[in-house]
Amino acid sequence: MLIAPSMLACDFRRIGEEARRALDAGADWLHLDVMDGSFVDNISFGPDICGAIRKSVPEGAYLDAHLMIDAPDHYYPRFVKAGVNMISIHLEREGAVDLHATLAAIRAAGLHCGLAVNPATPVEGALPYLEEVDMVLVMSVVPGFGGQSFMAEVLDKVRVLAEERAKRGLSFIIQMDGGIGPAQAPLCREAGADCLVAGSSTFKAPDMAAAIAAMK
Ligand code: DX5
Ligand code: ZN
Repeated sequence: MLIAPSMLACDFRRIGEEARRALDAGADWLHLDVMDGSFVDNISFGPDICGAIRKSVPEGAYLDAHLMIDAPDHYYPRFVKAGVNMISIHLEREGAVDLHATLAAIRAAGLHCGLAVNPATPVEGALPYLEEVDMVLVMSVVPGFGGQSFMAEVLDKVRVLAEERAKRGLSFIIQMDGGIGPAQAPLCREAGADCLVAGSSTFKAPDMAAAIAAMK
């Protein structure tokens, strides 16, 4: 199980140190929640901060950018330039954004690409993209804010994705994001998830290494 602490829950006054603290505590990836104040009701940080995090961590650290923004097709090149490894874009922008083209362009730039699905969005909408992605991100909270409660009903989506993955012989990662700590990790695992994003339960834990170890 990959554990990806969300930098959204860190102390922004010393974000570089916080990134290293998470890696030292056993984080597999760092999850970067990018919010534009339109796709979600919050504004977090953009490509420059992602680039600053890149410069603050050892070479080889895996940066997973989750773009909760209206125009991922317009902005993804800036995140490529910032040096992230994975860029996830949201299925809910289908129609407004050519998701197939944007996913392909992210891959063509040499990065991994992911497709994220909000709790209210049926997972069936993601099925036509499974051959084109390295990851599907199943949101287990309504995106916008850290510290919300886990929505267990989304576990059914993870089961559907895991089944499709096996049926089609694919190997995309299934990531879950929102309200996850040691109590939720076994449910996520049992449903078929491979990667857990965890903000509050890691950065705000008294002992981050113990929290990550407990989830693993
Ligand atoms: C929600 C973000 C999540 C969130 C996770 O909009 O995508 O990554 O910050 O934080 P916790 O683990 O606190 O729910
Ligand atoms: Zn996220």
